[in-house]
Amino acid sequence: MSQIIDIEDLGFDSGAHILVKQCLASVAPGQDIEIRGQAAEWQTQAAAWCRTQGHGFKRVDDRALISKGIEDKQRWITTSTSATELLDVASPGLGLAARGACVEIGSPEFKFRFDRRDEISTSNAAELYQNAINAQWNPNIAIDWSQPQEHSDTLETAVVQLLTYMVENENAALIVPARFLGQVHPHFREIQALLSIQIADEARHIDVFNRRIALFGRTPGLSTAGGQSSLKTLLDESQFGISEFLLSVLGEGTFVNLLQFLRRFAPDQATRKIALLVAKDESRHVAFGMSHLAERLESDPDYRSTLMAAVRARYDSLAATAGLNEEVFDSLVILAAGSLSPDSIATGFKEVQKLLKDMEEGRLYRVQRLGFSNAEATEISSLHTRNFM
Ligand SMILES: [Fe+2]
Ligand SMILES: [Fe+2]
Repeated sequence: MSQIIDIEDLGFDSGAHILVKQCLASVAPGQDIEIRGQAAEWQTQAAAWCRTQGHGFKRVDDRALISKGIEDKQRWITTSTSATELLDVASPGLGLAARGACVEIGSPEFKFRFDRRDEISTSNAAELYQNAINAQWNPNIAIDWSQPQEHSDTLETAVVQLLTYMVENENAALIVPARFLGQVHPHFREIQALLSIQIADEARHIDVFNRRIALFGRTPGLSTAGGQSSLKTLLDESQFGISEFLLSVLGEGTFVNLLQFLRRFAPDQATRKIALLVAKDESRHVAFGMSHLAERLESDPDYRSTLMAAVRARYDSLAATAGLNEEVFDSLVILAAGSLSPDSIATGFKEVQKLLKDMEEGRLYRVQRLGFSNAEATEISSLHTRNFM
């Protein structure tokens, strides 16, 4: 016996099709449902609706029989069986649809450059994104901008020079993931989200560093050709995995050491707090790069040689440049010295040597965790840009 539905005085121009659709969903293609109704012209409207939907229609006195069409199933494709299952390759035809949605045949194709899971993804991306969401901070609340300058102008000049250098590094750290973001297939939405919040982190870093530079009336310091040349190689890198290695594992990892140094030696509480908060953000960016590469290298151990070659190529391309801005190096010494007395400068110089050693050890640790041998890790770390990032 066929299912019966009474749409009463509801017309197809007022939503009757919703009730009919619900009823059709419970029967197999080819089966009939019976419709009863009283709205004016409802059978004429029902016949027209059935034609557009590919269902059969038959008027029987004051009723109608609708035979469920088979076209309905053929109108839709899905190559993803659930919202949580990730495809190895996301097809262009899935386009902008929610993962797990049925996509209508004839939808436009979108060619996203990163459509392969192994090329872009990491299995803990959702967790990393949640960590990032929970750790967001508001510079207007988290940082006390009201404290007056109590340190010397010499120390202020050093802070301003260091932050000027850090702003240009943050600009690279924002632009690199931003360029990748628009090329990621939306199927990999956790990666989309992770890159997006990383970009927001970097925008906040650029903002707070600039605000701190201006806090006591200063304007930015020097930006050197060597520093910008080093960063340009990061912007020129088009491969996601190589970029994660150079920028996040090596660069941002090294930057965390720099921020810890700044937290220890900055002369004012605003800068110390900024350094603490930014270092936490950067640690998450490093974690993303590490987990992506760890998984990728597990399935493709030969990819290590690609990463090694990229480090060598970057070193060669920068061989003729000066590397770290000397003003930045001197600023670090002055900050750690606290004053310009010879004894203090000697102490500051030692602290900067210790910072360089900490940076080196950190890089070795991370690179070895990715399965490189001691010799390979030592070479990679020693070839890393003198510009820190
Ligand atoms: Fe940053
Ligand atoms: Fe970062």
